[in-house]
Amino acid sequence: MTALLEIQDVGVQFGGVRALTNVGFSVATGEFLSLIGPNGAGKTTLVRGITGVIRLQQGRIVFAGRDISAWPVHRRIRAGLAMTHQIVRPFHSMTVLDNVALPAGHENIGNVVKALLRLNRSPARKKALELLSLVEIVDVAHQSVRGLPLGVVKRLELARALALEPQLLLLDEPLAGLNSQEAARLADMITGINRQGVTIMMIEHNLGEVLRVSRRLVVLDNGRKIADGDPDTVMADPVVRSAYVGKEKQDAAP
Ligand SMILES: Nc1ncnc2c1ncn2[C@@H]1O[C@H](COP(=O)(O)OP(=O)(O)O)[C@@H](O)[C@H]1O
Ligand SMILES: [Mg+2]
Repeated sequence: MTALLEIQDVGVQFGGVRALTNVGFSVATGEFLSLIGPNGAGKTTLVRGITGVIRLQQGRIVFAGRDISAWPVHRRIRAGLAMTHQIVRPFHSMTVLDNVALPAGHENIGNVVKALLRLNRSPARKKALELLSLVEIVDVAHQSVRGLPLGVVKRLELARALALEPQLLLLDEPLAGLNSQEAARLADMITGINRQGVTIMMIEHNLGEVLRVSRRLVVLDNGRKIADGDPDTVMADPVVRSAYVGKEKQDAAP
């Protein structure tokens, strides 16, 4: 398998805080990889570094054979990257449909006004309706996002990311806040998207679902990669277990 994404010796610092130190691994085309680790491990920072939301102080991001480390976000999206966020942030005043039609007209990324003006043109709306059907929320297409339950908004976020037609989809805690049924359903949808050929890198704390759907785990702790491999081997690794147990004790402390 060829590497779609290569994360090479990445370092990120925020003031005095080292969020990532010498992190490196590759993601092959077609993989379903989950990125796990305790809170504050640097997972979101790594995904932001891949999409270009933040700059790396050290290392490189190579995507489809090209060093994209210096590229602006919109250029990386055009090249085939998309992400959903830990904190969902759709446009609340717009309808569900328009929230997906906007990125579906993604030839206009970087020019929101032009994109909004083109929304009434049919191709972007048609594509948006198809994506809403895929994530099974087409029944609320014409409702405003405000007031919709989290389970629906999470699916909307997924549809918005898919509207960019990514090769690599980066998901930041897509299952957080969902009940177990909703989480399993969304995880199944993500699996279906992976089977369609989209490479997935998913940050997720729901270990039950992570172990059910992922074929590979990478574990971060304190900004460093501590494990990388097949789920059974990684979860049996004493280093991984102690990272989790240690953090759980801290979190449980008063
Ligand atoms: N924008 C930022 N400014 C300062 N510190 C940050 C910023 N983003 C993340 N951090 C710090 O970097 C570390 C890693 O954070 P993050 O990547 O959000 O972890 P995770 O997603 O694994 O919970 C934490 O110590 C966090 O406080
Ligand atoms: Mg995070």
